[in-house]
Amino acid sequence: MSRSKTLFVCSQCGHESPRWLGRCPDCDSWNTFAEERLPDKRDPRRLRLSGSAGQVERKDPVSIDRVDSSGESRRSTGIAEFDRVLGGGLVDGSMVLVSGEPGIGKSTLILQAAHQIARSGNTVLYVSGEESPGQIKMRAQRINAIDNRLLVVAESNLAAIADHISETTPSLLVVDSIQTLYDPEIPSAPGSVSQVREATAQLLLLCKQLGVAALIIGHVTKSGAIAGPRVLEHMVDTVIYFEGDQSHAFRILRAVKNRFGSTNEIGIFEMGEHGLVGVDDASAMFLSGDNRSVPGSAVTASIEGNRPILVEVQALVASCGYGTPRRTVTGVDYNRTAIILAVLEKRVGFCPSNYDVYVSAAGGVRVVEPASDLAIALALASSFRNKPVLPETAAIGEIGLAGELRAVSRAETRIAEAARMGFKRCLVPKRNVQKMTHGAGSGVELLAVSTVEEALSLGIEE
Ligand code: TYD
Ligand code: MG
Repeated sequence: MSRSKTLFVCSQCGHESPRWLGRCPDCDSWNTFAEERLPDKRDPRRLRLSGSAGQVERKDPVSIDRVDSSGESRRSTGIAEFDRVLGGGLVDGSMVLVSGEPGIGKSTLILQAAHQIARSGNTVLYVSGEESPGQIKMRAQRINAIDNRLLVVAESNLAAIADHISETTPSLLVVDSIQTLYDPEIPSAPGSVSQVREATAQLLLLCKQLGVAALIIGHVTKSGAIAGPRVLEHMVDTVIYFEGDQSHAFRILRAVKNRFGSTNEIGIFEMGEHGLVGVDDASAMFLSGDNRSVPGSAVTASIEGNRPILVEVQALVASCGYGTPRRTVTGVDYNRTAIILAVLEKRVGFCPSNYDVYVSAAGGVRVVEPASDLAIALALASSFRNKPVLPETAAIGEIGLAGELRAVSRAETRIAEAARMGFKRCLVPKRNVQKMTHGAGSGVELLAVSTVEEALSLGIEE
């Protein structure tokens, strides 16, 4: 028997080291190194799974103008928000990695998509290494996803899965989850970096050869024993993050890599009694719906992908008893908030060092765009002065270190969304207003402001 080499591999990013390390020099995560035994390099295992298709076929270079590119056909997943993130549907032969924390709804989303694809007359093979067919059926009944072309199998041995794929030749392969698959010939434990990489590489090869689209689920894990989905992001065609706050019903689907579309689009879902439901009217979701004028709340229009979304930012400024003041932010950028606090201190005499500051975006969404700076400043100042922001007023603008307001991108789109949601006024950087050729034209009164002081004196009630 050949002696295999052992290596320590970071489960988060795949960094290899001959010694154990407490902290990964590559991705800075702590305690993520696990010992793995690597197979002998001379091992002629490669292409083993693919049978006859594994024989290396000769491909001749062709002139680029004669390359056939019409072959990319897309299949709708039947879920508009999912299609949007994929760039218009699932491309045949492509591999999509859907990653997210346990319990976020990955299995539910993928099962819904699998059902829709089966319903339109295609065979779908759903391989689960986590749940029994009975458990999958229970979920399928709950979300009404029963179809005779949806085949389920509880299997985690890679060779057996390859056989199932070759026998059933599905249009779509679902793997839930990639961390449960294993190749018995690899000495490391299932879930280790080498197993996860090998499983992905072999499935990729097989799916590309057969033209099968694959949806692969990957758990985001914090522990070192199980490889995170990041170690295989470079191998797949599309990487999608499914995220959201466990305590909120809504979920956001975001493409971070997409060989077949843009990575700007997001899909918004709500987890309901019968599975995930796409949310068309996202703005309604992230406004608290409380129309009373309360100090410490301001609304911004953020752009997510191609969609404008109105988000309510809330701030609470409370005097701190003693010790270091607290700075707690959720859903907004910590560093931008720190800069805004410093600007407010210099410009409007708000002295944050004596106060605890809490800032959050309603509904658990993340607004990290600089265009939301002005709303954060308004919410902070409004809470500090204990005076509400003008009713039915939205605010957009990036704040510079000198307290000046910088123009934001796509101001018209943002203002139009505010108008659609019934807002009457919008604080807008003067530079944006100057550039507008035909006004906003949407019935919203534009309050052009060039500095933070000006915005605060106009935007907060006296
Ligand atoms: P699941 O898809 O199993 O999450 P993941 O595969 O990402 O681990 O579902 C997660 C949660 O969603 C689970 O706690 C139950 C809940 N849920 C609903 O609220 N409604 C539903 O219709 C379904 C199927 C699940
Ligand atoms: Mg699951």
